[in-house]
Amino acid sequence: MSTVWLLLLGLVAYSVYKMCTTKMAVRLLRLIYEYRCKDYVKFIAEHKRLFAEAQAKGGNHAACTGHFYDLMAELIELYYGPSFHFAPPRYKGQNNDEALQDFHAKVAHLLQLAPGKKCLDLGCGVGGLLRDVGRESGASVTGITLSDEEVRIGNELNQSMGLGHICSIVKGNMQRLPFEESSFDAVYGVYTLKYLTQPELERTLQEVRRVLKPGGMFLVYCLMKTDKYDESNPEHRALISGFEYSCGMPALHYTKRMKQDCIQAGMTPLAHFDSSHDNLQWYTFFAENRLLRFLLTSRLIRTLMYVAEAVRILPAKFTEFMQIFIVNNVISIYKAGSMGIMSGSEYLIFQKPVAGPSH
Ligand SMILES: C[S@@+](CC[C@H](N)C(=O)[O-])C[C@H]1O[C@@H](n2cnc3c(N)ncnc32)[C@H](O)[C@@H]1O
Repeated sequence: MSTVWLLLLGLVAYSVYKMCTTKMAVRLLRLIYEYRCKDYVKFIAEHKRLFAEAQAKGGNHAACTGHFYDLMAELIELYYGPSFHFAPPRYKGQNNDEALQDFHAKVAHLLQLAPGKKCLDLGCGVGGLLRDVGRESGASVTGITLSDEEVRIGNELNQSMGLGHICSIVKGNMQRLPFEESSFDAVYGVYTLKYLTQPELERTLQEVRRVLKPGGMFLVYCLMKTDKYDESNPEHRALISGFEYSCGMPALHYTKRMKQDCIQAGMTPLAHFDSSHDNLQWYTFFAENRLLRFLLTSRLIRTLMYVAEAVRILPAKFTEFMQIFIVNNVISIYKAGSMGIMSGSEYLIFQKPVAGPSH
C-alpha cells in the first residue's frame, strides 16, 4: 500500500477516534438512538400547518412554538444541555458549559438576587438557567413555559438536583401571567421574547410590569436583528426567515425596537451592553466546532442517512427533519452571527418605576 493511502487511513482512523472520544460525538450518537422512534412525518406536517396558520392570522405563534418544543426539548437537552441559549466565552479556550455558567451567574448578579427574593423566568425551557440562578443566589425562581414536555423534564431536574424548594416550573403563556400583581423582585426573559410579535409582545411587557414589585428589575437577553440586517438583501432575508421557520417563531425583533417597546411599556432603561467582543462571540460554540459543521453539512452523511431511512434503520423523514430543524438552525446562527446581522448576547436591563401605576 502506498504511503499516501497509509496516511489517509491513519487520518480517517484518527478522526473516528477523536469523534468517539469527544463529548459532542457521544451526545450525537445518544440523540440518534433516543430519537429513532419519533414520528417525523407527522411533526414536519404539523409544524408546516401551524406556522402557516400563525402567519395567516397575523403572528401569534404560541401553538407552533409549543408543538416545536414538545418534540425538541428533550433533543436539545440531550445534545446541547438544559440551557437553550448562547453566551460568549470570557476568554479564549473557555468551553461552552463554563461560558454558560458564567452567564447564569451574571444574570443573578445583575438582578441583585439573594435569599428571600422572588424571581420569574419567562419561557424557561427545561430550566438550566433557572436552576443556576437559584443555586447561585439562593432566591426562589419560578419559570413559565408553553410546552408540557419542558415542564415535565424541568421539574424532574429541579427535584433530582435538590433544588425543588426554590425552583419550580409552571405551564402557561407569558402573555397572561398567572401571578399576583407586584409579586416578583425580578423578571428575566432569555432567548424567549423572540417568540412574540405585536400585539403579543406589548401585552407580555405589560404583564411583566404588573407582576414586578415597584423598583423591581427586568432583564432581556435575546437573539435580535442588528442595524446591519438589510431587508432588501436576499441573502439576509433567506437566512433570517429560514431560521424563523425552523424555530416556529415570528419575525425577529430589532434590538432598538425591543428597547423602545420595553420603555413604551413603562420600564425605565438602566443598562444596554453586548458581552461579545473581538473573537469572543456568542456563536463561538458553532464557529469553533468545525467537526459539528462538517457532520451537519456533509453530503456523504446526508446520503448515508437517506440510505438508513430507506432500509428503515432511521425513521421516515428523519433526514428532512435534521435538515430543517437542526442543520438549518446551526448554519443560520453561525452565518448570521458572523455576518453581524443577528446579535445574541446583548443585555437590556430595566426597572419598574417606584412610583406610578402598576400597569
Ligand atoms: C429558545 S428557548 C429558551 C429557553 C430558556 N429561556 C433558556 O434560555 O434556556 C425558548 C423558550 O420560550 C418558550 N416560549 C415561547 N413562547 C412562549 C410563550 N408565549 N409563553 C411561555 N413560554 C414561551 C418555549 O417553550 C421555550 O421554552
